[in-house]
Amino acid sequence: MKCKDLLSIADLSVSDIEEIFHVTKELKEWHNKGYDEKCLTGKTLGMIFEKSSMRTRVSFEVAMVQLGGHAIYLTQSDINLGKRESIKDGAQVLSRYVNGITIRTYNQDTAKELARYATVPVINALTDYLHPCQALSDLYTIKEKFNTFKDIKITFIGDGNNVARSLAQICAKLDIHFHVASPPGYELTPEFISEVVKMSGGKEMIHRYEDPKEAAKDAHVLYTDTWISMGQESETEKRKQTFHDYQINNKLLRVARADVKVMHCLPAHRGEEITDEIIDGPHSVVYDQAENRLHVEKALLKLLLRK
Ligand code: CP
Ligand code: NVA
Repeated sequence: MKCKDLLSIADLSVSDIEEIFHVTKELKEWHNKGYDEKCLTGKTLGMIFEKSSMRTRVSFEVAMVQLGGHAIYLTQSDINLGKRESIKDGAQVLSRYVNGITIRTYNQDTAKELARYATVPVINALTDYLHPCQALSDLYTIKEKFNTFKDIKITFIGDGNNVARSLAQICAKLDIHFHVASPPGYELTPEFISEVVKMSGGKEMIHRYEDPKEAAKDAHVLYTDTWISMGQESETEKRKQTFHDYQINNKLLRVARADVKVMHCLPAHRGEEITDEIIDGPHSVVYDQAENRLHVEKALLKLLLRK
């Protein structure tokens, strides 16, 4: 992997993604045999979290422990980055102590500024704009389930949010058609789409719909996420009304392929974007997907921190 940081899937080449998946597979198989590769002995990861997290925080921390290293969880009340001191100073000082930094924050520019001044790798653990570690784990999971990306149809139902953007980017990189159904006003924007088209060498890999059924037709993967992302809580009532018909339920599943896999980055809001019978049903791979966060992040840490 050539890049110093992982702030966006756009930072990765196709061969970087293939390398991450290759190392993930090796580490996962090794782990399942009862071993772990202690390639990060003595290394420390600083984990800045300005928003809640269960999967990302725990999987990165466990990943460091399994690789022989250590992680320090830093909430906003601990370091108050950007307020108690500038991001520039925080980045430079942290770089003298730790070997890598993950950051979960609101503005993508905060992560960019941290990476600009940090001399150690910075990994985006979610911003309002992107969630690259999630997308890597999701596509790794899809490869595990279908053994190939060839002719796979991935459909995202719901908000054109951070998760949808990172999925759209990784699909463009891997030459996979990405179908997304969103209500008017919540779509992936034309500006974002034209950036992604550039990333995929001019190919139109994103297909937008208003009707979830049209988007879900013959899909191999149906994916959804919350209607109300962290930071949007004041819009809850309006969003619940707007997204009412953008739910993965039995009716929607009927238009997809018979072997469709249902995915959700979690946390899920059962009864809103996904029903109980779907998330608990035979098509759901949400917990395999969550598990793969650990294996993919181990690969990322191994590739970025051992340099
Ligand atoms: N999917 C995900 O990033 O979960 P957390 O918000 O719990 O980390
Ligand atoms: N879109 C969600 C993802 C949570 C993992 C959010 O930003 O809250």
